[in-house]
Amino acid sequence: MNRPLISPSLLSANFANLQADIEQINRSDADWLHIDIMDGVFVPNISFGFPVLKYVAELCEKPLDVHLMIVNPEKFIKEVKDLGTMMMNVHYEACVHLHRVVQQIKDAGMKAAVTLNPSTPVAMLVDIIRDVDMVLLMSVNPGFGGQKFIVHTLDKVRELRELITNTGSQALIEVDGGVNLETGRQLVEVGADVLVAGNAVFKAPDMSDMIHRLKSL
Ligand code: DX5
Ligand code: ZN
Repeated sequence: MNRPLISPSLLSANFANLQADIEQINRSDADWLHIDIMDGVFVPNISFGFPVLKYVAELCEKPLDVHLMIVNPEKFIKEVKDLGTMMMNVHYEACVHLHRVVQQIKDAGMKAAVTLNPSTPVAMLVDIIRDVDMVLLMSVNPGFGGQKFIVHTLDKVRELRELITNTGSQALIEVDGGVNLETGRQLVEVGADVLVAGNAVFKAPDMSDMIHRLKSL
């Protein structure tokens, strides 16, 4: 069992003082910074857009893990790339031509990840798993931070690990939603590689300590 990579989710940061929170992330053991972009259409909430993220990207020293909860994410590949993004996550449910979108993301010079909503079966990935750098399993219905972890996600991580092994895919498994020290430990046990944590990190009394503890799971 390897130590997980930790990707704190900016959605739970103090939006009136993003600089202070990003500087804390820079100084921590966090591996990436997770950025949730929402459009109020694909999910019932709106977060932040590119004019804000331009400044976030300038301040952040960690690789950016950008999670697009929007319809037609392929329209924004250039904008996401221009932030200096390392990993671009698009939802399976938002892409009719998923194979094309994945290739476009890679052609733009980013790593490509496909995200599944809690109700979307892992089996839908059979024909794309060799093409992606990561699969992001949602362990809450996307749109809000601070929700309760859906326990069935543990079965999906096991199933995805088996699919990756059987196909020789190199994809990482990331999980997003309701991750804390307890659910994080369970996720690592069943094979998760990357943990996204919003409230668990940004609402902790000591962010750096919490990131360190999540990384030590
Ligand atoms: C939810 C977002 C998550 C969210 C996680 O739609 O994709 O990244 O910020 O927040 P927590 O860890 O608080 O559930
Ligand atoms: Zn997310």
